[in-house]
Amino acid sequence: MSYSKESMKPFSLLFAALTLPGIAAAQTKVTHAPFGKTPSGSPVEVYTLADSSLSVRIISFGAHIISIQAPDRAGKVADVVLGYNTLDGYLADNKTYMGSVPGRYANRIAKGTFALDGHTYHLPLNDKGNTLHGGLVGFDRLVWNGSIVDNGVELTVVSPDGDQGFPGKLTAHVRYTLVGSKLRIDYSATTDKPTVVNLTNHTYFNLAGSGNILNHVLTIDADRLTPVDATLIPTGNLTPVSGTPFDFRKSMRIGARIQAANEQLKFAGGYDHNFVLNHPGDLTHPKVVLSDPSSGRTLMVYTSQPGVQFYSGNFLDGSFKGRSGTIYSKYAGLCLETQHYPDSPNHPAFPTTTLLPGSTYRTTTIFEFGTTK
Ligand code: GLA
Repeated sequence: MSYSKESMKPFSLLFAALTLPGIAAAQTKVTHAPFGKTPSGSPVEVYTLADSSLSVRIISFGAHIISIQAPDRAGKVADVVLGYNTLDGYLADNKTYMGSVPGRYANRIAKGTFALDGHTYHLPLNDKGNTLHGGLVGFDRLVWNGSIVDNGVELTVVSPDGDQGFPGKLTAHVRYTLVGSKLRIDYSATTDKPTVVNLTNHTYFNLAGSGNILNHVLTIDADRLTPVDATLIPTGNLTPVSGTPFDFRKSMRIGARIQAANEQLKFAGGYDHNFVLNHPGDLTHPKVVLSDPSSGRTLMVYTSQPGVQFYSGNFLDGSFKGRSGTIYSKYAGLCLETQHYPDSPNHPAFPTTTLLPGSTYRTTTIFEFGTTK
C-alpha cells in the first residue's frame, strides 16, 4: 500500500486495506514468574501471554504492560512498547505512567475538586494545580492481585474509602487476554458509595521499535475534541477538528503538523488531547488506526469508551533509561488512552463517570496488531 495514496483514503476504507493475520488456532500460553519485590516487601509477578503472533508481558505492579513483541512485514520481531527491564525501573519512574493502568480517575480533575451526592471532595494536586491520574499514589503505584484466566490474566485492586480523597471503597479488575493478534483489555469496577471512576491503559507505542513516532501515520475516527486551557483542563466545549492539526479523520503523519502554530499544541508541547470518538460504544470498528511505514506494523484500537487521549510523549525528557539502555526522549512513544473525557466530574454535559453502589463499571478496549505491505 502506498502511503501517499493511503493518506487520501477515508477512514472506513483504510482499515479494510490492512492485512491482518488470522485468529491463531492454538490457544494462548500464559505463564508467570516472580518480578521482584516493592520496597515494602510485596512480591510482584510478571505474566507472559504468548501465541503464534504476539508475546505480551504484564506485571502486577500498576498492572503495567511492560512488553509487546510483534513481527514486522518481514516477520522480524521487535518490542513495540516502551518499558523497563526490571521492577526498579518502574519503581523509579513516578512521572511517565509507562504502560500502567492509571486510576481511579485517569487523566485530570480540575483543582483536584469535585462535588458528588451533596459532598465536595478534595484530591491531592500533582499536576499544575490539578489532579492527574488518580493522585499521588494512584493505581499505577499499587500491587494488584493477579490470577490466570483463559488466554490471559485478571488483575484486581481494592482502593479503600477515602483513598487519595475519593469516596467509596472501589474494587477494580483489569483483565488482559490475548487471542490471535488481538490484545483485549476488559475493565470493571464496583463501589460501596457513589464515586467517580475512569480507567485506561497508558502504554507508549512505538511500532518501529526504536527512534521516535513522528513518522507514524495516524487515523482517529473523531469529528471533535475537548480543547483545554494552559493547564490541560477541558474548557467544556467540544470543538470541530476540521481545518486544524487535530483532523486525523484521514490518515496523517504525526509529525506533519505537530509544530504548527496552534494554541492547543503549544499548551501541551504536542498532542495531549482527548478526541471525542464518533459512534461511541461500537466495538466492531476500529476507532484509531496507527501504522509505521518503515516496519509495516499496524495497530488498530477498538473501544467501548467515548474518548481517546492521544498523547505524543511530549513530556518524555530523557530522564529515564528504558530497556537495553535506550533513553526515552520527547516523542519516543505515543499513548492512545481510551477513556471518558478528562475532568468529567466537573462537566455535567460530558458522559458521566459517576459509579453508584449496585452498578458495575465496564469498558473494553482491544489493541489489534498487524502488518501492511
Ligand atoms: C497523560 C497526560 C500527559 C502526561 C502523561 C504522563 O497522558 O495527559 O499530560 O502527564 O500522562 O507524562
